[in-house]
Order: sequence, then C-alpha cells, then structure tokens
Amino acid sequence: MPTVGVFDSGVGGLSVLRALRAELPQVHFVYLADNANAPYGERSAQVVLDRALRLTEQLRAEHRIDALVVACNTATALAIDELRHTHPDLPFIGVEPALKPAAVLTRNGYIGVLATRGTVQSARFAQLLERVSATQVRPLHVRVQPCDGLADAIERMDAAAVHERAAFHLAQLRAGDPHRPPIDTLVLGCTHYPFARDVLQSLCGPDVLLVDTGEPVARRTRTLLNLETHAPGTEPGAFTLLSTGDRTSLEHAASRWLGVAVQVAAA
Ligand code: DGL
Repeated sequence: MPTVGVFDSGVGGLSVLRALRAELPQVHFVYLADNANAPYGERSAQVVLDRALRLTEQLRAEHRIDALVVACNTATALAIDELRHTHPDLPFIGVEPALKPAAVLTRNGYIGVLATRGTVQSARFAQLLERVSATQVRPLHVRVQPCDGLADAIERMDAAAVHERAAFHLAQLRAGDPHRPPIDTLVLGCTHYPFARDVLQSLCGPDVLLVDTGEPVARRTRTLLNLETHAPGTEPGAFTLLSTGDRTSLEHAASRWLGVAVQVAAA
C-alpha cells in the first residue's frame, strides 16, 4: 500500500488528513506540520517556497512517500508549480479555495472567501477567480477577505482570539455598500478554518453555507493513486505525525480533531 505525505504550516492540514483517512483507510499517511515556521500566510512568497521545497525533500528522503498532498492553500498557491517542476516523478495534490463548488452551491450569487493574505495576493488565486467567474452563466459577486491572525489563533487554540479574529474579518467582508445582498455561501480558503467552523457559522447565521475542501481533495487523491473506495465505516489506518516545532500542540490538536491519542515525533 502506498505511503502518502501531507504537509501544512501547522495543525490546519489535519482537516484534510481527517478526510483523507476516512476516504483511504488503507493508506499510510505521514503528516508533517511546519509549526516552527507558521503562519505561512503572513510570510514572504520566497520563505513559503523554500519551506515547501525543503519539506518535500525531507518527506521523500526519510519516508519514501509515493505522493504528496500539499494540505495548505498558501503553499499550494505559492509553491506547487515549482514543486511539480522540481519533482516531476512525484504526484502532487494541492488545495485551493473551494470557489468552484461555491459557485454551484450559491443561490443568490453572493459568495465570501476567507483565506490567508498569501493566498489572496497570489497570481494563482487571481487566475482561479477569473476562471470561475468566466464560466458562470449568471454574474457572481465574490468578496475576498485576507484573514491576518486567524490561522495563528487556531494554531494556538486560543478560543477568545479565534472569536475576535473571525468576527473582525467577517465584519470587513460585510463592510461597504449597505444595499448589497448578504452572502449566502462562505468559502473557508485556509485549511485551518474548518476548525473554527462553529464560531464562523454562529457569526454568519444558519442560512450561510460554509464550504471547505477536505473531502474533494481526498477523492482526488484516491483517483490519482488509482485506489479502491472502502466501505463506509472502515476503520482508518495508522498514520505518523511529525512536527518542526512544538510537538504538544499538534498532539492536542490530533486528539481534539481526529479523536486519536498519538505521539508526535520531531521532524
Ligand atoms: N493552513 C494554511 C492554508 O491553508 C496556512 C495557514 C498559515 O500558516 O497562515 O493556507
């Protein structure tokens, strides 16, 4: 069975790992959290690219991975082209803000996107926006909000800061023309944000649909690796967690969000 590497700046990619383990219980996953260098979203493009290249080399050399899931919107936006160029023999699966599904799901055409500054300012995100808008038969109204501090608050599991950052950024998203209809769909364009889903949902109200990318990425990984679907309810298999920084925070996050007690090793 294949070994699949997964990396993110920190705990956020666990939201993708959760979907991957449910979809592919037969696969051994090696999850690497680069929390010594988080948050990626507020770092320069060059730093994120250097880290992505370094982590990929490490996962290949030390864990002999057969494919790599870049479980981070920021690293995908800033590094996936270079990763594919540097490692042409390794299949990569990236994540991008779920604008395409949101465009299908929205009823009134008003969509909000929350993502990191690095993602929002990237050329790749601009292309995604353009592509999705161009393929719609009706006009789409997309508001984009860079969410400084939100991933970091989630990383630190600081509930008060998560609430404050989420409320601030949603208010920014709504600011402006008071006559504009409210959004009915909100894209969680950073893999950390599903872990603030309850807070975001309560701030937006029950009528707003929150969309993330965990499950589509897991399905794409299965297709790319040409693996069978397992019967629902199959127990997820073993996995390895590695961290470049504070190991206990990743252990707490895994126990809280994956429901497993697992020891994190130093990367
Ligand atoms: N979880 C990452 C993303 O999807 C990065 C968050 C951060 O480190 O800023 O963009």
